[in-house]
Amino acid sequence: MLAKFHEILEKAYRGRYAVGAFNMLSLEHVRGTIRAAEELESPVILQLAEVQFGCAPMELMAPLYLEAAQSAKVPVCVHLDHGQSLETCVKAIKLGFNSVMFDGAELPFEENVEVTSQIVRIAKSVGVDVEAELGKVGLTGFGTSGKDPEVDVFTDVEESAEFIRRTGVDALAIAIGNLHGRYIATPKLNIGRLKEISARNSLPLVLHGGSGTSMEDFKSCIHNGISKINVATALQMAATEAVGRYMNESQSPNYIEMKEIIEDATCRSVKEHIKLFESDGKA
Ligand code: 13P
Repeated sequence: MLAKFHEILEKAYRGRYAVGAFNMLSLEHVRGTIRAAEELESPVILQLAEVQFGCAPMELMAPLYLEAAQSAKVPVCVHLDHGQSLETCVKAIKLGFNSVMFDGAELPFEENVEVTSQIVRIAKSVGVDVEAELGKVGLTGFGTSGKDPEVDVFTDVEESAEFIRRTGVDALAIAIGNLHGRYIATPKLNIGRLKEISARNSLPLVLHGGSGTSMEDFKSCIHNGISKINVATALQMAATEAVGRYMNESQSPNYIEMKEIIEDATCRSVKEHIKLFESDGKA
């Protein structure tokens, strides 16, 4: 069933587990993810990032996500990930996404507050929830060695409280040393900073860049206020590796089997994450 973002996340926040938010680029992704969530009786978030519109246009993906969510046996939310403008967020809302993320992390603080607040006002008037971001979540491949990045890219504790109070967001994505993409070394997250942000606020927090995070850091995150974890690269890697194996091993590879391989690989990877995030049995 299509479920409210804030309801799924508030339940996770109270229960000290996290809901997986998986970036979906295809029918196989969607079917594999829903199957995993149903088999493990877990809530799940299907999301699409604006940066992926080139290969997965929002207008084509929205009906697929929505139909899959509505017919699922578990709570499913359909979420815009990293909306880059007010216009994209409004478009997603019109297409039926029931939560949107506005990513104003690169903007000066006041401007981030201003645009996020505007989006919250519009979204709330039609019952849609909002996630925003504060602090800089970088991209891998820019020299990270698994060491802590400079402290000034982390989300500031006092700013987080002011941002949440002034914008009225439902969830806040924070930067604690997490990065998007394929890590070249396992990162070490700043759990101390997470604890401080968590103690200062009582709102579900979001970890972006979930792929490649250590089991220990995942556990520390979900037990200290992270209620949503975004995963994209791990699903793409799982599908690519499974297709690679299939192409090497099969005598006569065919497209229909390849679709099944991708769906199965997605299902397996989503299941692993659901178990790690402890959302199984929480539907
Ligand atoms: P990864 O690709 O590192 O899993 O990051 C996903 C993400 O944060 C999407 O917003």
